[in-house]
Amino acid sequence: MKVGVLTGGGDCPGLNAVIRSVVRKGVQDYSLDFVGVRDGWLGLLRNDVVPLDISSVRGILPRGGTILGSSRTNPFKHDDGLRRVRDTLVAHDVDALVVIGGEDTLGVATELSRQGINLVGVPKTIDNDVSGTDYTFGFDTAVGIATEAIDRLHTTAESHMRALVVEVMGRHSGWIALHAGIAGGANVILIPERSFDIEQVCEQVMRRFEINYAPIVVVAEGAVPKEGQMVVKDRSLDEFGHVRLSGIGEWLAQEITARTGKDARTTVLGHIQRGGSPSAFDRWLATRFGLHAIDAVKERDFGCMVALRGTRIIRLPLAEATAENKVVEPTLYDEFEVFFG
Ligand code: F6P
Repeated sequence: MKVGVLTGGGDCPGLNAVIRSVVRKGVQDYSLDFVGVRDGWLGLLRNDVVPLDISSVRGILPRGGTILGSSRTNPFKHDDGLRRVRDTLVAHDVDALVVIGGEDTLGVATELSRQGINLVGVPKTIDNDVSGTDYTFGFDTAVGIATEAIDRLHTTAESHMRALVVEVMGRHSGWIALHAGIAGGANVILIPERSFDIEQVCEQVMRRFEINYAPIVVVAEGAVPKEGQMVVKDRSLDEFGHVRLSGIGEWLAQEITARTGKDARTTVLGHIQRGGSPSAFDRWLATRFGLHAIDAVKERDFGCMVALRGTRIIRLPLAEATAENKVVEPTLYDEFEVFFG
């Protein structure tokens, strides 16, 4: 059997660990052949397929990014997309795909699987918002990077007695903001799941100054003020219809200064959260996902996604995993109320 491997959507630390693990077990235990698809679904539209074997995956475990490249291409938004995908698979004798992606890439995989293409999904994203899995790989690394940034910002905030706003990624879900904010001892954490009241944020900021501490506000890029719309710099959309975010952090700092008279500055962590070497946990999770994904391929259990439940790796139907995003539940957020303000 020949298996194609592709990585789609925003990159994330641990993608290479999955590719390595899929290929190592597939070749050594099951004598499978592999090809790599370049740049996610784009490679299948463009017939851009490269050889993939054990030598090509040597040494990539600790490397960030993806050796296969990635893109936010949606084949269903391109003329004749489905036919071109099928043609490339046939041209290279590919019997099955391992698709490593987040909500968008796996959404496409769900539809392609309905159309009869043999594939198995592996959930990745620093946002941790794929349903059906307790964690996606990449998330732990991103939280570690954001937490370290918050730790560093505390000391400079205290030296100048200013409010520092840290904008982290998270378009529809506040997992990074919540985990890093709690780990870094933030005073205000704002997530997309709960619109915030700017007056209340300013009160929380002032309470912190009153006891001689400099406040740290962590905000997810998709968080929105109560009365307003999502704050964006750029309204252009990608092929999955997502608006390019960024701007809420700057807006917050301006409002805090205008309403409290205190100096406030913003740090936008941006793609730093996605770059570089994966944490030990992400390497471990990505490796396990890869091993279980190739088992599913070998057993021809197509149309499923591997997922972490507790300490076990399970399989669930892709359609179930991609039906909706996993968001922060109100009760979880409320657990931390005592630290806010
Ligand atoms: O999809 C993951 C993610 O990290 C989101 O949190 C963020 O909105 C998006 O990627 C930004 O990615 P890019 O700038 O590469 O389109």
